[in-house]
Amino acid sequence: MFIASQCLGSRTTDPGDTRNRFCILAKDEATEMPTLVSHPDEVKVLSRRFGQGAASIDKYIELDGYKAVQQALEQGPEMSNWIINTMKASGLRGRGGAGFPTGMKWSFVPKTSDKPKYVLVNGDESEPGTCKDHVIFLHDPHAVIEGTMIAGLAIGAKMGFIYLRGEYRYLLKIVEKAVADAYAKGFLGKNIFGRAGVDFDIITQTGAGAYEVGEESALMESLEGKRGIPRIKPPFPAVVGLYGGPTVINNAETIAAAPHILLMGGEAYAKLGSERNGGTRLFGISGHVERPGVYELPMGYSLRKAIYDVAGGIKDGKQLKAVVPGGSSCPILTADEIDVGLDFDQMAKAGTMLGSGGIVVLDETVSIVEFALRVIKFYQHESCGWCIPCREGTDWIKKTLTRVYEGGGNRKDVDNVQYLAENMMGRTFCPLGDAAAMPTIAFVKKFRKEFEDYIDGNRAGAPLITEQELVGAGH
Ligand SMILES: Cc1cc2nc3c(=O)[nH]c(=O)nc-3n(C[C@H](O)[C@H](O)[C@H](O)COP(=O)(O)O)c2cc1C
Ligand code: SF4
Repeated sequence: MFIASQCLGSRTTDPGDTRNRFCILAKDEATEMPTLVSHPDEVKVLSRRFGQGAASIDKYIELDGYKAVQQALEQGPEMSNWIINTMKASGLRGRGGAGFPTGMKWSFVPKTSDKPKYVLVNGDESEPGTCKDHVIFLHDPHAVIEGTMIAGLAIGAKMGFIYLRGEYRYLLKIVEKAVADAYAKGFLGKNIFGRAGVDFDIITQTGAGAYEVGEESALMESLEGKRGIPRIKPPFPAVVGLYGGPTVINNAETIAAAPHILLMGGEAYAKLGSERNGGTRLFGISGHVERPGVYELPMGYSLRKAIYDVAGGIKDGKQLKAVVPGGSSCPILTADEIDVGLDFDQMAKAGTMLGSGGIVVLDETVSIVEFALRVIKFYQHESCGWCIPCREGTDWIKKTLTRVYEGGGNRKDVDNVQYLAENMMGRTFCPLGDAAAMPTIAFVKKFRKEFEDYIDGNRAGAPLITEQELVGAGH
């Protein structure tokens, strides 16, 4: 149950499927779930149990499940240091978007605290183009549970929360069953694995469909039963988090990687990836490719190869126009800019971000004006309305781009869009403002002529959906 509350910005209607339309993966007709894909270049660490029925606890155990957490428990008084040092050695960086080193994040939590400590798993996964946590919850939910326990043991927490995106409510059954099965085996609850005095509980919770609650402090507000708007930082969650207690919050994929890392060793995991970017990552490749899907590739893998080899190239023999490399907030790359490695540092050098691993491929038929309008419509709708640059900036950009798209714009509109976006950057309470501004600036800078052509009455690219659907009533 959840109670719908009107958001501060009065964004009461949801163009929800704006996000889903970006993320079109092949679906199994019977189950309506994404079909599993594979490619020889994949390095299967996180995905090694996918498709093997590991949502069943017995299967998970058969496939080395719950071994890592027991290995951690065997370290005795050195357990916390051992886990944190292994995570640091792994070079794992948060898979939620910002790429913060996970071991370091866990080490920031004070050893002692008057208040209970918590682990929070961020399964909100609402960034358009992103669809990889979904696959983990579906195929390997116990990896998330075991990872939560490991994070808890590392920081001295006795409770963890798994927070699922509101629209993923159908996955809740799978996750809840996995949690119940872990309790039934004595892996969760009091005296876990028969160890006196070692307790750990997990509670599952779903959101109510707001992108903003994926932001860590807004997620905590939401979990505490309040409106999902962010908190001012500092203090940071590691010190003052959920219910005021020290809290580690990680993306579901980050957490699910922890058991694998403990089992294989930090150094071995690090070696799979590139410099300062340890391991592998799940990439959701969607849009105009022959074989869309979620693939596990080593960090640093070539974006070009990911598109042309792994995902089978551009659909129907068309030409590549552009790529959004890591979810809709990441600045777009043109077809000439794809010779870059898929890790946080190489993407930053290329002027974009690895983000949440959602690669959206656009072919030559796509209208960038339309794409830009769809992106800003999403952020305008999802702005919580708390700070003016985000609330007003997204709205003005949307209005201006709508005018350009509908054919009533003038040359000054293109400058205005860029000016508005540049003035949002760094001036908002949370990064949603930047997430809206960054792609907008890149669209205008890299495809300015296309916007001007629209203004001059020459529409480039074929619309993806009807104008009425895109512009919508009242948005
Ligand atoms: C508007 C907004 C939405 C976000 N949505 C998500 C999300 O859906 N899932 C996620 O893991 N992180 C999301 N983040 C990032 C989180 O705030 C946080 O950095 C992340 O959960 C930390 O986990 P990591 O260190 O494992 O990446 C979002 C951030 C912002 C600003
Ligand atoms: S940037 Fe400001 S208005 Fe926008 S979502 Fe964050 S807190 Fe809300």
